[in-house]
Amino acid sequence: MRTGLEGKTALVTGASRGIGKATALALAAEGANVVVSSRKQDALDAVAAEIRAAHPGARVLPKAAHVGDAEQAAACVDAAVAEFGRLDVLVNNAGTNPYYGPMVDIDAARAAKTVEVNQFAIVQWTQLAWTRSMRERGGAIVNMASVGGLVTEHGIGYYNATKAAVIHLTRQFAVELAPKVRVNAVAPGLVKTNLARALWEPNEEAISKELPLGRLGVPEDIAGAVVFLASDAASWTTGQTLVVDGGSIIRPAIA
Ligand SMILES: NC(=O)c1ccc[n+]([C@@H]2O[C@H](COP(=O)([O-])OP(=O)(O)OC[C@H]3O[C@@H](n4cnc5c(N)ncnc54)[C@H](OP(=O)(O)O)[C@@H]3O)[C@@H](O)[C@H]2O)c1
Repeated sequence: MRTGLEGKTALVTGASRGIGKATALALAAEGANVVVSSRKQDALDAVAAEIRAAHPGARVLPKAAHVGDAEQAAACVDAAVAEFGRLDVLVNNAGTNPYYGPMVDIDAARAAKTVEVNQFAIVQWTQLAWTRSMRERGGAIVNMASVGGLVTEHGIGYYNATKAAVIHLTRQFAVELAPKVRVNAVAPGLVKTNLARALWEPNEEAISKELPLGRLGVPEDIAGAVVFLASDAASWTTGQTLVVDGGSIIRPAIA
């Protein structure tokens, strides 16, 4: 598969650990310059060092930003363009889930936080990528949705509602930004990261048995799908959401 990512510049939010870090490493493996962002500069500096060690010669810019902060977001995208001259790939990966429980009981503050980070940040970072580089030079955007945006689930209903919104934002931006920019999403199932620890750690064996592929996801399972959608191999694909979930949503329905 020719990815065409060599020498391109990719910015990954939420890249200090988990799926975002694995994605940054995978993009660097394809020869892309990588901008890694999340809230904590120390963690990003460590990720940058890890990428350079794994891929000698890789060009990496670690730049902290809270995805919901307009000024920090703009500073991050501007730094990427200043360093590398353009932004070819944006991976809107940062996500949060501040509330577990029935959606009927969620409070306004945690609902607003969930929307800010999971949903509106994608709009904001896409606007920045578009105006600062992609409107002129084209590009590809990959958003991190979730299978939870396609099904119902106990405990994380409001988080899942924001992920359903991500799937629709992806379609809407795909139409608005075409043909210059392709916009797609990945919808992971349960992946063994910090964010989802409360879901998988106590139940890993039982959940694995229920999955057609017999195991939970690891970040690298998702990174491959992101690289594909960001790459020339997906040059005629836009507005789509690729489910990567070990088969969780194709399990036979209850009778
Ligand atoms: N793990 C799963 O089962 C699963 C399933 C479906 C979808 N997803 C989605 O996958 C994405 C990545 O999550 P993950 O599972 O890899 O979790 P993770 O390992 O906990 O990583 C989350 C990343 O987001 C960053 N982040 C959180 N809040 C942020 C903010 N306000 N501004 C900037 N960065 C922020 C974190 O860094 P800092 O804390 O340093 O800022 C970290 O780098 C999320 O969108 C999540 O919803 C995960």
